[in-house]
Amino acid sequence: MRTIEWSNGIVVTIDQRLLPLEERWIEIRDCAEMASAIKEMKLRGAPLIGVAAAYGLALTAYHSKARRKEDLIQELEECARILRRTRPTAVNLFWAIDRVLEKARSVKGDLEDLRDAVVSEAIRMADEDVKMNREIGRHGAKLLSDGDRVLTHCNAGSLATVDYGTALAVIRAAWEEGKKVSVIADETRPKLQGARLTAYELMRDGIPVTLITDNMVGYVMSKGLVDKVIVGADRIVVDGVANKIGTYTIAVLAKEHKIPFYVAAPTSTFDFSKRSEDVIIEERSSDEVVYIGSVRIAPEGVKVMNPAFDITPIKYVDAIICEEGVLTREEFIKLAKARS
Ligand code: MRU
Repeated sequence: MRTIEWSNGIVVTIDQRLLPLEERWIEIRDCAEMASAIKEMKLRGAPLIGVAAAYGLALTAYHSKARRKEDLIQELEECARILRRTRPTAVNLFWAIDRVLEKARSVKGDLEDLRDAVVSEAIRMADEDVKMNREIGRHGAKLLSDGDRVLTHCNAGSLATVDYGTALAVIRAAWEEGKKVSVIADETRPKLQGARLTAYELMRDGIPVTLITDNMVGYVMSKGLVDKVIVGADRIVVDGVANKIGTYTIAVLAKEHKIPFYVAAPTSTFDFSKRSEDVIIEERSSDEVVYIGSVRIAPEGVKVMNPAFDITPIKYVDAIICEEGVLTREEFIKLAKARS
């Protein structure tokens, strides 16, 4: 299932807020629309918001009325500023914006060449995402055995990427190789990406999935019902992994129960310029906590915290699966030291 497409100056994507109850495809036509789609989480997931931001710049280039290259570059920079303010934690967003801007600034030809270069770069990034995810799947599948029961958190599937996913790529690839794996998806409060999106995606593919609430993770592990944990990532820094809130809890529980804990992410999610304490954790609206859907569940006026991500120290991560292969924790630490 391809989550996002460029179609002659329009970006088509599925409104993930409505899934699984409604599959509504929406059209995004300019940078401002793209920025609000990202902020409101019509589309979400680190690799996907990276590609979406690239497409936001492509929309600006495609529809621009600029007559000079310098003017178009200025419009792109303004769009980049808007996009950078949408969500702070996933590094892919910033990585993608920088890559497209760099491409734009390097164009030697005329205005039309600049326009084409920006659009082609965004399309190329979308296609590369799918290829990288296939590679993540191929490498990661080696870690899974026939019959493995894999716990995953949030949604790191096709819906979080252009296609195929990261954590779910590993599960899909193992399944395609004939390994009879099954998945335990936790619901992932407050936005319920596990219940709404991971369960939906896996059921579409016919991969066995069992849904649990977040507070059941310790119980299912203690009962020996989980063989491996695989999650995605929003930013992998030198000493930890930022991912959906709740990942840290699962990692600590996995260590207690001697269950391997793997992170699957493309290298565009690596950020060796930062340590855990430098990562900005997005704080989202209190409404996400006091409401489930449109039903209020907490008293008016209650104080709320709603951090959207947490950071799992690298000591809890057994390996990172990226498009280049599987990095053990020790290999990752060495790489991070060399690159930071
Ligand atoms: O707030 P979200 O839904 O954008 O958060 C998504 C996650 O935390 C995913 O696990 C992460 O982006 C990896 S997706 C391949």
